[in-house]
Amino acid sequence: MWTFILVTLVILTRADGEEDSFLYDVFPPGFQWGLGSGSYQVEGGWRDDGKGLNIFDNVFHQIPSPAVDGTNGDIACDSYHKYAEDVSLLKYIGNIVFDNWPRSSRYHVFEAGVYRFSLSWSRILPTGRIDYINPAGIEYYNNLINFLIANGIEPIVTIHHWDLPLPLDGIGGWANDELIHHFTNFAHLVFHTFGDRVKKWVTFNEPNIICMLGFVFKVDGRPIGLNEVIKCFRTLILSHARVYHLYDHVFRPWQGGKVGTNLAAYWFEGKDPNNPEDAKAAENALQIMWGLIASPLVFGYFNRETRQMMERLAKRGLISPQKEFTLAESAEIIGTWDFLGVNHYSTYLTELRKSTSKPGNLTLDQIFLLLLDVNLSVKPEWVSTSTPDFKVVPSGFRRILNWIKWRYGNPELCVLENGYSGRPEQGLEDYNRVAFHRAYINEMLKAVKLDGVNVSVYTVWSLLDQFEMELGYTVNFGVVAVNFTDLDRTRTPKLSATCLKQIFKDNGFPR
Ligand SMILES: *[C@@H]1O[C@H](CO)[C@@H](O)[C@H](O)[C@H]1NC(C)=O
Ligand SMILES: *[C@@H]1O[C@H](CO)[C@@H](O)[C@H](O)[C@H]1NC(C)=O
Ligand SMILES: *[C@@H]1O[C@H](CO)[C@@H](O)[C@H](O)[C@H]1NC(C)=O
Ligand SMILES: *[C@@H]1O[C@H](CO)[C@@H](O)[C@H](O)[C@H]1NC(C)=O
Repeated sequence: MWTFILVTLVILTRADGEEDSFLYDVFPPGFQWGLGSGSYQVEGGWRDDGKGLNIFDNVFHQIPSPAVDGTNGDIACDSYHKYAEDVSLLKYIGNIVFDNWPRSSRYHVFEAGVYRFSLSWSRILPTGRIDYINPAGIEYYNNLINFLIANGIEPIVTIHHWDLPLPLDGIGGWANDELIHHFTNFAHLVFHTFGDRVKKWVTFNEPNIICMLGFVFKVDGRPIGLNEVIKCFRTLILSHARVYHLYDHVFRPWQGGKVGTNLAAYWFEGKDPNNPEDAKAAENALQIMWGLIASPLVFGYFNRETRQMMERLAKRGLISPQKEFTLAESAEIIGTWDFLGVNHYSTYLTELRKSTSKPGNLTLDQIFLLLLDVNLSVKPEWVSTSTPDFKVVPSGFRRILNWIKWRYGNPELCVLENGYSGRPEQGLEDYNRVAFHRAYINEMLKAVKLDGVNVSVYTVWSLLDQFEMELGYTVNFGVVAVNFTDLDRTRTPKLSATCLKQIFKDNGFPR
């Protein structure tokens, strides 16, 4: 109990204060640096060489398209054809040799950083099922992985990053527990095929968001029901657990890698620092945002806040009454992680919600707030980015890392997404992005060196300017610019690439 009070006090005192001063120090030896991408967002080649359709191929061709600029990822960065150029950019940014890098790895020696990318399920299995394996899909990822390794870059592979094969959406998507079976088959295939060279696997990108945002985009335009959202959480948790055990029993003995997942992890703090109700709302929202998935994987059960949320929704008639995990399910899901991935973008202020009226068809934003049971806002003085809700609040990064450490027993954390949302017209001199990464990495450094948080990897979101879902190409996170009007999709490193190259090389900010 005292630790909880202590943490609360620390957070409350810091909430009012200024940012701490800049810390000049370096990360522990072996800390890994890199950059990331998502398959639908960079690959293009949407119908090339036997690829099947996924939900995004479908939804971004609808009129009106959910992308504000009416665009899609049909070509995107054309990384399906230009992966060698991507790898050379990675090598340029991350070309470093760590002093203490273990040189005795059983299969490969990685001298540079890491590249986190995802597999397009429908490129490998066009129907989503294991009925037909597309050789061109296998070849593409083999080429990419081999080329990364030849350049000393370690692949971190996300098995599924939202681009669900369309036929699986047709049977209800993640609300149908038949998907556990299909996802496990897909994972089996990719472990078997790529696992001799891939040592870090992420089962799902942000499973909490997949469900909270209604499996991201429903293709048939039908409003998503809250029951389906809750069902989705169960399906993803059980899918993850089954795939973890598959790896553990069948592949780990000879491949020796690690399996985890990564969660969207915002920082929440009470709107009025003197109002304990607001602080309670923040803690509750954190417990649901992070804990809805993390608690089952780490402890084997839904945490109290999640159970109360489900009871509350059931009492209001918004969902049917929910069961706990059975003992057998608990035994299956507990401890199914080797690292936990953290995606962090921004901080919000919380207030308890007072509205209890029965909502009609819910928008995705409403579902999100209903689950977290808060109203969210931001401080007017926080610096804006080009994504409306994302503000620059570096101290929130240190706080969420500490919060996870204290609530989850100091697990190994991999920060797999953190980035600044800019606009194309801001060009190559992206000073704001430079300032963002310096400040956020410095807060992570404080978390590691001063607070003892166990972070081992940091991958920037994103390597390239890429298709950003409902924001299309109007915003970008890349440290490398892509000219989307040029058929060649010319790539040019921005100032931030140079700045990150230095931070990676220095392993932090040496005095
Ligand atoms: C929170 O949001 C709800 C729904 O938009 C609104 O009715 C309510 O007044 C807001 N504020 C509080 C404190 O609940
Ligand atoms: C909710 O959506 C369904 C299906 O689109 C529609 O038939 C119904 O009228 C909507 N209800 C409300 C209250 O908007
Ligand atoms: C971080 O976690 C890894 C994996 O559990 C462990 O080997 C390492 O000793 C931990 N490091 C620290 C500083 O706690
Ligand atoms: C992008 O490419 C087009 C076509 O090649 C060219 O006209 C334009 O100047 C390029 N834009 C930039 C910012 O380089």
